[in-house]
Amino acid sequence: MPTSSGLFSRNFKKTFPIAARGEGCWIVDQSGRKYLDAAGQAAVVSIGYGVAEIGCAMAEQSAQIAFAHTSQFHTAPAEKLAARLLALAPKNFHNGGRVYFTSGGSEATETAIKLVRQYCLETSQPNRYRIVSRRQSYHGSTLGAMTVSGNVARRAPYAPLIPEWGHIAPCLCYHCPFEKTFPQCEIACAEDLETLLQQHDHETAAAFIFEPVVGATLGAAVPPEGYVARIAEICHRHNILLIADEVMTGMGRTGKPFAVQHWGIEPDIILVGKGVASGYAPLGAVLVSAPVVEAFARGSGTFMHGFTYQAHPVCTAAGNAVLDYLESHKLFERAGEAGRNLREALAPLQEHRHVGDIRGLGLLHGLEFVKDKPEREPFPKSDNIAEKIRQAAVAEGVLTYPTQGCVDGQRGDHILLAPPFIISKEECSLIAGALETALAKVFPV
Ligand SMILES: Cc1ncc(COP(=O)(O)O)c(C=O)c1O
Repeated sequence: MPTSSGLFSRNFKKTFPIAARGEGCWIVDQSGRKYLDAAGQAAVVSIGYGVAEIGCAMAEQSAQIAFAHTSQFHTAPAEKLAARLLALAPKNFHNGGRVYFTSGGSEATETAIKLVRQYCLETSQPNRYRIVSRRQSYHGSTLGAMTVSGNVARRAPYAPLIPEWGHIAPCLCYHCPFEKTFPQCEIACAEDLETLLQQHDHETAAAFIFEPVVGATLGAAVPPEGYVARIAEICHRHNILLIADEVMTGMGRTGKPFAVQHWGIEPDIILVGKGVASGYAPLGAVLVSAPVVEAFARGSGTFMHGFTYQAHPVCTAAGNAVLDYLESHKLFERAGEAGRNLREALAPLQEHRHVGDIRGLGLLHGLEFVKDKPEREPFPKSDNIAEKIRQAAVAEGVLTYPTQGCVDGQRGDHILLAPPFIISKEECSLIAGALETALAKVFPV
């Protein structure tokens, strides 16, 4: 174990290089080694590293006023960013929607859980409190966010601390939980929400939370046509709120400001994080649609919740500067185009005997590795394939985001690719080349 670190690190058995600087899609460590960041670290970095104007905007805000407590003041950067995010969101967020800024994605989920509960009280539905979610999902690491998450490995150690509010089937056609095929399946995985609500006390259900494209847990699983609309319809009919967790998919990652806009639905609440400040500041947000806001405004008028650092002026200034950059460099549009370049570069890898599936949308892609391709059979967990691929890719100077468990929470190896939106065609080829070499090393003939 390295003893020189004072940090309570994620893995005591590992030595972490010291990241010294970044430029574009590249990170340079203290020893001068360069890494092409094919994962935006964890689908965070959208505009790239080293954009000086973001830091300038933060310094300027800090010199004006670095902090003001939200119990006493609002600030101009927070007001400005809220208005801009609402304008990007679906129509039901315009004219009366509001934004609750947090310091990251987990706090956004936590806030949404409490907001939904209080909404139920404001609207005289005191029996409703359960937030239904999906197996094989991730909504954050705090205990409330863990409760609604369905990521088996991340939940397991904390099982005694987290209640079960109801999880439905995941939506992953490559390993359909019903062993069906689209479209003959008639989207049985969406129907599972109807079944759960009918069988389990639907009067206590308050909301359904989902990732429009499932990121880390399933490796960029995109739902088939009709899934998202069906989920929205079921929520609407049962009078429960729909929360789109866009912490990973939001702010342009999939080629539209919010992934739900690919399917034209209007969730009641949208969560963002990661890309909202592209890693330049810890920032997340809960976008609340106008009808939900209205319930609070007409009711008690107060939300019994708060964080000292919510709507932080310097962090929201970073959010504004990042959004300026996204807009002025047309990066919302570019994510779609760069995603097609990446997909094209990765396409030959599909021929590899252990690459089962390449999936994704925009600049959020996953590669799943299988032991037996025709049977789609995963490797045993102990083979640690995703991590081995990551290590072999790092040896080639390319960073990826590996995860296990996409099949059943234990087995199933994939890596996630989510580079900055500025990724060039040449860099896409470098990523594909590094993965080809990594595959050859991990699976020698
Ligand atoms: C979909 C989703 N929701 C929530 C979170 C939690 O965000 P954070 O790590 O910023 O707390 C994540 C993080 O990976 C995520 O991918």
